[in-house]
Amino acid sequence: MNFARIPRENLHDILRRMPKAELHIHIEGSLEPELIFELAARNGMPLPYATLEELRAAYAFTDLQSFLDIYYAGAGVLQTEEDFFAMAWAYLKRARTDNVRHAEIFFDPQTHTERGIPFATVINGLERAVRRGREELGVSASLILCFLRHLSEEAAFAALEEALPFRDRFIGVGLDSGERGNPPEKFARVFARCRELGLRLVAHAGEEGPAGYISQALDLLKVERIDHGVRCLEDPRLVARLAEQRVPLTVCPLSNVKLCVFPDLSAHPMGKLLAVGIAATINSDDPAYFGGYLNENYLATFTALPELGAKEAYQLARNSFQAAFADESVKEGWIRELDDFFAQQCSG
Ligand code: ADE
Ligand code: ZN
Repeated sequence: MNFARIPRENLHDILRRMPKAELHIHIEGSLEPELIFELAARNGMPLPYATLEELRAAYAFTDLQSFLDIYYAGAGVLQTEEDFFAMAWAYLKRARTDNVRHAEIFFDPQTHTERGIPFATVINGLERAVRRGREELGVSASLILCFLRHLSEEAAFAALEEALPFRDRFIGVGLDSGERGNPPEKFARVFARCRELGLRLVAHAGEEGPAGYISQALDLLKVERIDHGVRCLEDPRLVARLAEQRVPLTVCPLSNVKLCVFPDLSAHPMGKLLAVGIAATINSDDPAYFGGYLNENYLATFTALPELGAKEAYQLARNSFQAAFADESVKEGWIRELDDFFAQQCSG
């Protein structure tokens, strides 16, 4: 593919239109302020914010924990199966407009079961949206159950037990929430059990936590992808390992800036990660809180980093399909569509 033939002024249009996958989206992080107000009213729940503007003004985060406090409070308005459906359906419609062909969607059941919401309510609502998204929007989607790492190993085992009757509704498990002080090793036995069950494995690591947590996630949890992983750059040997083993990183640039991992996008290491051969992808993390969905993450990152051009756009979209937990034949189909799209761009 002769990427040099693609004029730079076409880049934004290409980023918007190219087919892509999203592999790191917390569905509770897609809950827009308008829907929070709507669900709070419907469910008769008082909010500590009088207006949408007041709620939005609270979205000024200094670190991961300052975000998580607001994110878990926002998720408190989700009460019924219909609420979970509405949230996921809104995300999938939005993903379609960003030309997302496939989404792997995280959900945090413990955030809800701890409030007395049955696991079935959560998964039934999400699953209904996923099915409808496939049928009506042509967007493929799968669910990944995340354990909250600030809670105990025992709580994670209990969450897994509760989820097992619904084993066919989710493809894998992940690990999220406050990273500092909650190393992957805390969940080694839970992940070993999930592995025996044939679940796909991912974990957040090296977002705020040290590079050593990335190695732990690989060696002790045996994850297949790392969520975030940007702090790998502090350890050259780890960078070499990630590149050599083609371990995918699901990187979330707007999230990284909002949570003060980097001061601004011009300081973001996306260009460097790709240049050293790491299988990085772009994702939105919690789009309702961090100022943008998937295409906004692509556009803002490419605007801020002049070293990213058409070749990197292709590479990122290709990485997203290759790193997906889907059948090889399906992934090949998506990559063929991507190749056709870029061949057309290169031929003028
Ligand atoms: N849960 C939702 N978003 C998260 C993030 N960026 N890091 C850890 N846990 C999360
Ligand atoms: Zn995340």
